[in-house]
Amino acid sequence: MQNIQEKPRYTGDIAEEVRNREQEYTAVTQEITFSDEQHAIWAELFAGIHQPQLLEHICGEFMIGLERLQLDPQHIPTITHLNEHIEPHTGWRTERTAVRYTKAEDWYRKFAQRIFLVTDYLRSREQIKFTPEPDMFHDIFGHLPYLTMDFYARIEEKFAPAFLKASDDEREVIKRLAWYSTEFGLVVEDNRLKIFGAGIISGRGELNNTIMELYRLDRDGVVNTNEPVYAQICEQFERHKADVDRIIDGINRLHRQGQMSSQEQGWNVIRTLYDELGIDHSGYFGGEVLLAPFEIDYIARIPKTVYAFNPIFFVFESFDRLAERLDSYLQPIAHRR
Ligand SMILES: [Fe+2]
Repeated sequence: MQNIQEKPRYTGDIAEEVRNREQEYTAVTQEITFSDEQHAIWAELFAGIHQPQLLEHICGEFMIGLERLQLDPQHIPTITHLNEHIEPHTGWRTERTAVRYTKAEDWYRKFAQRIFLVTDYLRSREQIKFTPEPDMFHDIFGHLPYLTMDFYARIEEKFAPAFLKASDDEREVIKRLAWYSTEFGLVVEDNRLKIFGAGIISGRGELNNTIMELYRLDRDGVVNTNEPVYAQICEQFERHKADVDRIIDGINRLHRQGQMSSQEQGWNVIRTLYDELGIDHSGYFGGEVLLAPFEIDYIARIPKTVYAFNPIFFVFESFDRLAERLDSYLQPIAHRR
């Protein structure tokens, strides 16, 4: 396992919000009364993604979970509704938090108790397409349909036991593994690349970018959809590893220079980086986001991009294979004394 050598290491985390603990919700204050405007923003976000031409690119498990969760397209759900529709399936519960971006350690302590925190913050109208902060639409619409499903609960249950025993360097890798799987992963389903991650699903900008890339790979002949697609992604990645390495180094450099920190700059910077490195915007590198196989050594080297679009996403060939790969890194740490 390659360690990330530069210190202090750039993590890509959102600055954590310091809140008065007394403002935190208690068992009796879980439910909030939302304004009509907040329900209207929820309805617009819901309708923006609940469209057949978008949903067909999201994996089948999400659709099953969405059905189980019985969300109201017009109204933000109550915590009671969410728990009634999640707990009987997987034993997980949700809890409201006043913290917009919870410190990883606090987050994983709740995870260890099978509690998924839902923020009380909802993006504004100006942030309909992109918000760097995970808001309640992201938490609820992006993650919770999956949390009604056993396979997802088992995946989420892998992270906390390792995180709570991990060193600082390992913790950074674990956060990146979660980022590039449950937040921004893709999965192969019936030989089609499908969107899995909650961060892609809940953000129309990255959702569109990803769907465009799926079409482009086919259109530009990078992937022949009549042949096994995962093997072709692996072949492309293998063939272009030297350039991928240079891109990853470049991304790290840009992060350290603070140039991966705005939605406007994000992609232009990457395009400029390709130009600087003399990498042609064609073939495997022709899209708005690079798709690579879910290889832990590579994921460990790429910081999270939270204030701009992510330059690279990772694909796994099945949820079983994702689980195995996560285990290969997480289990030895979780079982450490
Ligand atoms: Fe998330």
